[in-house]
Amino acid sequence: MLKISVFELKIGMFVSQLDRPWLETPFLFQGFFIRSRHDIKALEKHCKHVLVDTERKYTETKQLKIYSENPKTQADNKKNLPHRSCHYEDKIPVEDEIGFAKQCRTSLNKHYHHIHEVVSNGKAIDLDKMAGTIEGMVKSIVRNPDAFLWLAKLKNFDSYTYNHAIDTSVLAVSFGRHLGLNLTELKELATGVLLCDIGKVKIPKSLLSKPGRLSSQEFELIKTHVKLGVEILQQANGKVSHEVIKIAQFHHERHNGQGYPNGLREQQIPVFARIAAIVDCYDAITTHRSYNKALSTLDAIKCMYEWRDIDFQKELVEEFIQCLGIFPTGSIVELSTGEIGIVLAQNRIRRLRPRVMLVLDKNQNSLDHLPVIDLVKEEKNQNNEVIEIVRSHESGVFGIDPANFFIHD
Ligand SMILES: [Fe+2]
Repeated sequence: MLKISVFELKIGMFVSQLDRPWLETPFLFQGFFIRSRHDIKALEKHCKHVLVDTERKYTETKQLKIYSENPKTQADNKKNLPHRSCHYEDKIPVEDEIGFAKQCRTSLNKHYHHIHEVVSNGKAIDLDKMAGTIEGMVKSIVRNPDAFLWLAKLKNFDSYTYNHAIDTSVLAVSFGRHLGLNLTELKELATGVLLCDIGKVKIPKSLLSKPGRLSSQEFELIKTHVKLGVEILQQANGKVSHEVIKIAQFHHERHNGQGYPNGLREQQIPVFARIAAIVDCYDAITTHRSYNKALSTLDAIKCMYEWRDIDFQKELVEEFIQCLGIFPTGSIVELSTGEIGIVLAQNRIRRLRPRVMLVLDKNQNSLDHLPVIDLVKEEKNQNNEVIEIVRSHESGVFGIDPANFFIHD
């Protein structure tokens, strides 16, 4: 590791640390390769010295822009973000949280099934029955989001619809935690995102999973799920807050005004609905659907970044990318050693060096035991070669199903 002046930086160097708190800068990632003169200029503007990891070589992360184009710092950008009232740190390791998270996810699944049945039968839903389970999920994610995020990658609990509803809710709470929302806000976000598509129960299933292009008539019919969902929530038994209803009402509005049903734009869209739109889109493009192949997490992050200021608020997209890390929990990654693993837990200080559960050896043969390596602690292998993540793969690649590599509680 070499401490150098920003005026000595060169393209291709790997900046591992800045001389000021990372969150006060416009850099999206902590640890990145310098790809252009623009990157060097951005560093010159915000730092005097940085630490350069001289052993790191260019990897595919170079394809992603590393800083916000907004000249203001992220601290300045916070004005368009929800007020940060809490700061959370991981309280327990993922292995200790997974048992509770599993039970809670199963219970959430049952409640969600039940709600679908009730709505199908034209009856009013009772949200009070589910409130305790939602609180359990929120508290688990507050203790350590990696357990629920890992479970979200299993995708074998039920159909796409059920998984998508619960997974987006998990992502939304993890994102809300990163943004510093308080517990009440996190519960509202969890409930609203979980139920924002509940109106789809009233739409023919064949249409929802139709491969290929929809006719304009079919698309208009799908759009009605927003209005139907709001009606279902307004008629629910128990207390449904205005915030929860607003998430369902506005989750398809888009930053540029091209969304539906009202064509709202930018700050006209309630912030929780803006969050819902981001997590809804991210989960959809990283999941195999009848009409679309899943993207790798890195490709999905690149897409989300491209869509900032078009579909989604830029500052929120940047915060979301910081929240996920380049290699989100549950993603399949390839190491410089040739081994393949699944990201088990984030290292929230050094996002490029998470804890990884190895599942295939360098010849891509299955491993009998599943060693977990912490890339922060194990920087080199026995041959003194640097161990690092060189790329991420889409889910399902190499026949890897994270469900087969369950963390034992
Ligand atoms: Fe929707």
